[in-house]
Amino acid sequence: MTRLISESPILPASPAELRLLIEQRRSVRRFTDEAVPDAVLRDCLELATLAPNSCNLQPWSFQVIRDPELLRRLHPVCLNQNAARSAQVLVLVLARPDTWREACQQIIEQWPEAEVPPPIRDFYRRTAPFQYNQGPFGLLGCFKRWLVRVVGLRRAVMRTPNSRAQMRLWAVKSTALAAENFMLAVQSHGYASCPLEGFDDVRLRRVLTIPRQAVPVMLVAVGKASEKGVYNPRLRFPLERSVTWL
Ligand SMILES: Cc1cc2nc3c(=O)[nH]c(=O)nc-3n(C[C@H](O)[C@H](O)[C@H](O)COP(=O)(O)O)c2cc1C
Repeated sequence: MTRLISESPILPASPAELRLLIEQRRSVRRFTDEAVPDAVLRDCLELATLAPNSCNLQPWSFQVIRDPELLRRLHPVCLNQNAARSAQVLVLVLARPDTWREACQQIIEQWPEAEVPPPIRDFYRRTAPFQYNQGPFGLLGCFKRWLVRVVGLRRAVMRTPNSRAQMRLWAVKSTALAAENFMLAVQSHGYASCPLEGFDDVRLRRVLTIPRQAVPVMLVAVGKASEKGVYNPRLRFPLERSVTWL
């Protein structure tokens, strides 16, 4: 069912409040044994899915792991990292390069107005399928790579995603934004998180049922921060190192 999200003109947070929330989020590696209510997780997941994403195709999915036996089996998969061992919940964040086709269909079916505007219908019926379909064995992608080289000689063209690998990158970009939304939402509820890419993805697939083409982007450990849950003071390089003003 379509979710209609209010577009309130009221500013929900001052820049100072948003700064505080972002500054307070730290990667926490030790959690207490206080449970995280499902309602909190649900709210955070809703906010995760409000992240900007490519063509609104929402190429992500999430597995919320609360079952103690599954959590226990995931400890060694996560290389016995403290964050995974003490977390009350692990959320597996998956990028889904494989769901664009059904998403195109769902956007048309669930459009939140009586009529789907013709340009929208056209985009999800024609343009998006051409853009994202790589064909059997990626052959259409090969053809499109060649096509954009030729067309691109004369005008600007979108050159990716035109391979399976580029499709994975395409999905990971949007999914990473959703993961950040999720972690900030967790913070806003007074809980803490730690993103984890330190896991064995082959063994992960033995413990959980993960669609073949889905890309495990990260596991997010969630819980109440325990004392000394943050290991180090925050360090960020000066902006001058990474920002160019033109
Ligand atoms: C994609 C990604 C993967 C990460 N993987 C791990 C991990 O496996 N284990 C861990 O302890 N921290 C992990 N982190 C957390 C980083 O170490 C942490 O964000 C960084 O040191 C900055 O600290 P801060 O998050 O407290 O600002 C990961 C962070 C990101 C974004």
